[in-house]
Amino acid sequence: MLTRRQANAGLLASATAATVPALAAAQEVKAITLPTPRNDGGQSLLTALKLRRSTREYSDHKLPPQVLSDLLWAAFGINRPSGDRTAPYWRHIMVIDVYAAMDNGVWLYEPKTHMLLPHLADDIRAATGLQDFVGTAALNLVYVAHGERMSDVSPEDRRLYASVDTGFIGQNVYLFCASEGLASVFRAAIDYARLNRLTRLPEQQFVTFAQTAGYPRG
Ligand SMILES: Cc1cc2nc3c(=O)[nH]c(=O)nc-3n(C[C@H](O)[C@H](O)[C@H](O)COP(=O)(O)O)c2cc1C
Repeated sequence: MLTRRQANAGLLASATAATVPALAAAQEVKAITLPTPRNDGGQSLLTALKLRRSTREYSDHKLPPQVLSDLLWAAFGINRPSGDRTAPYWRHIMVIDVYAAMDNGVWLYEPKTHMLLPHLADDIRAATGLQDFVGTAALNLVYVAHGERMSDVSPEDRRLYASVDTGFIGQNVYLFCASEGLASVFRAAIDYARLNRLTRLPEQQFVTFAQTAGYPRG
């Protein structure tokens, strides 16, 4: 009999195989191997907490690959040999995927290999929220829940647990950004129907929230 961890790993592998390569192949875009994350250093936790805030004015400067790598690792990277993550998650079932919407397309963060897998070639940043700054900020994270992995709970509970999982990731991003002098804002002001459609997610997957990150303006 499979343990929960094995079942979860199997689900992940099949979901990735079923969705990402098809889109990637169509676009002939290569996956990006991120630099090894620097998982030490930065400001103290208490300093980061003191600096944490939501920011809604961004420059259009891109994030250097190392900073992007560190940010994604902080968000929901693997921090133990068990494969577990920097954020806790519901029932030890991996429900949330982190997508990075940037000027060069939409990428799925793959924490095991620490890669960005191509998902869409389009720049959909402006569609990740209803506020103007999202269209020009370097990075908009789009958090996506696998509803099909939560099949034994009601639709309301799926959204609840997926939202809680996302909130922990969002706070990791806030604290990383505070520590690095970056700006961030977690967001629900989204045209969900449009974003779900544009991201071409498989049935039962749905966007929970988005989060902008980048250099502050000025
Ligand atoms: C669930 C949730 C949804 C949010 N949605 C938005 C949003 O769509 N746009 C926005 O500018 N800020 C959004 N925020 C950020 C809050 O407005 C912000 O955290 C709050 O005003 C407190 O400010 P602070 O984060 O600077 O402490 C959201 C925060 C949460 C927790």
